[in-house]
Amino acid sequence: MPRTALAAVHDGRGDRLTVREIQVADPGPGEVLVRIAASGVCGSDRHVLDGEWSLPTPTVMGHEGAGVVEQVGAGVTDVAPGDTVILSWYYPCRRCRACAAGKAWACTGTRSNECLLPDGTTRLRDAAGVVYPYLAVGTMSEYAVVPESAAVRIPADVPMDVASLIGCSITTGVGAVVNNARVPAGASAVVVGCGGVGLAVVMGLALAGAYPIVAIDTAEEKLAAARSFGATHTVRARGDAAQVAAEVAELTSGGADYAFEVIGRAETIESLPSLLTTGGVGVLVGLPPQGAKAAIDVLELAETGKTLIGSNYGGAVPSLDFPRLAALYLAGRLPLDSLISHRVRLDEVNEAFDAMRAGTRTRSVIVF
Ligand code: APR
Ligand code: ZN
Repeated sequence: MPRTALAAVHDGRGDRLTVREIQVADPGPGEVLVRIAASGVCGSDRHVLDGEWSLPTPTVMGHEGAGVVEQVGAGVTDVAPGDTVILSWYYPCRRCRACAAGKAWACTGTRSNECLLPDGTTRLRDAAGVVYPYLAVGTMSEYAVVPESAAVRIPADVPMDVASLIGCSITTGVGAVVNNARVPAGASAVVVGCGGVGLAVVMGLALAGAYPIVAIDTAEEKLAAARSFGATHTVRARGDAAQVAAEVAELTSGGADYAFEVIGRAETIESLPSLLTTGGVGVLVGLPPQGAKAAIDVLELAETGKTLIGSNYGGAVPSLDFPRLAALYLAGRLPLDSLISHRVRLDEVNEAFDAMRAGTRTRSVIVF
C-alpha cells in the first residue's frame, strides 16, 4: 500500500524547495522502506539548487540520512524491520569490477547518479507523475525506498542526527584522510574550507595524529570551529592566494605533506600545489560545478613530485566504513555531535540552505 510522506522537493525552478506531500510505494524485490529520522543539509544539495549540477526533476533532495527500516522487499537479507540504518548515496551494485575489488565508492553498476533504483524506476510519485530521489536516497522525506546495499545497519544507540552525518560529510571527510590519503601520524596537513565536510577532514586528521593541522577559511566562525575539532593553527583567507601559501609555508616549515580542498572552487583547487612541500599530496574533496576546469602548473607539479588525487565519498565501502565511524563516535574518538550547530524542522529547509550560502552554520540537520 503506498503511503503519503512529507518531503522537500526541488521542482527545477529556482533555488527554493517546496515542502509537500508525495506518494511512496512499497519496496520492491531487494529494496528497503526506511522511515527517515534525520537528514543533514549538505553542500552537494546546494550545488543542485543553485543550478550547478543538473538532475531529473522533480527531485526529493537530501542524501545524508539515517532512519529505521519499516518494511523490506522480497529477498532482502541484510536488514530487517526495526534496524537502525544509515543510507549511502552510492548504492554498490556488488557485481562490477570495482565492487569486486572492494572499492564500492568506484562502483560502475550503480544508477544512484541518475537518481534511479537498479531497475531504472523510482518508488516516488506525485499527482503529476514520477518523482526522483536525489542520489537514489532522497533523505529529506519522511520515507525513502532504497536498494538493500544502500541501507547499512548500525548500533541503535547512535543518535539519529549523528548517524545521518555519517551518511555523507563524515564519511567523505574522515575517509579522505584515512582511506584516500592514508595520512600517517606526524604528517603536516592543511584543510582549505571548513564547512561540514572540511571539519570532518579536520577530525580525521586529529584522529590520524597529523601535526600541524592548519585550517583555512574565509569565515572566522569556521576557523573557531576547526580549532575545536583539532586544528592546531588557522589562516583566514582574504582573497590573496599567495599570502595564504606564505602563511602555510611558515607554519609547516616550507609546505604541508597533505592539503585537502573541501570547497569545490577552481581557484582554491589551482592553489592547492602551492600549499604543499615537495612530494606532497593534494586531495580534491570539494565538488565543483559541472564542467569546471582548473589550471595547474604542470612543470611545477612534475618537478616537485607533487600528487593530486580525487576523493569520492572518502574512498569508502559503506558497509565497512559506516559501522566503523559509528563505533569511533560511541568510543568518544570522533566528536560528531559537536558538528551539528542547528537542528531544524523539514519546513525550515530553505533557511538552512540560505545559512549555508551565507557561511553562518557548521551543519544543520533536519530532524523528523
Ligand atoms: N577560501 C577558504 N574557504 C572558503 C572560500 C575560500 N575562497 N570560499 C568558501 N569557503 C568556505 C566557506 O566559508 C565554508 O566554510 O568553504 C566552506 C564550504 O563549506 P559548506 O558550504 O558548508 O559545504 P560542505 O557541506 O562542507 O561541502 C563542501 O564538499 O562534498 C563536497 O559537494 C560538497 O563541494 C561541497 C564541498
Ligand atoms: Zn553530501
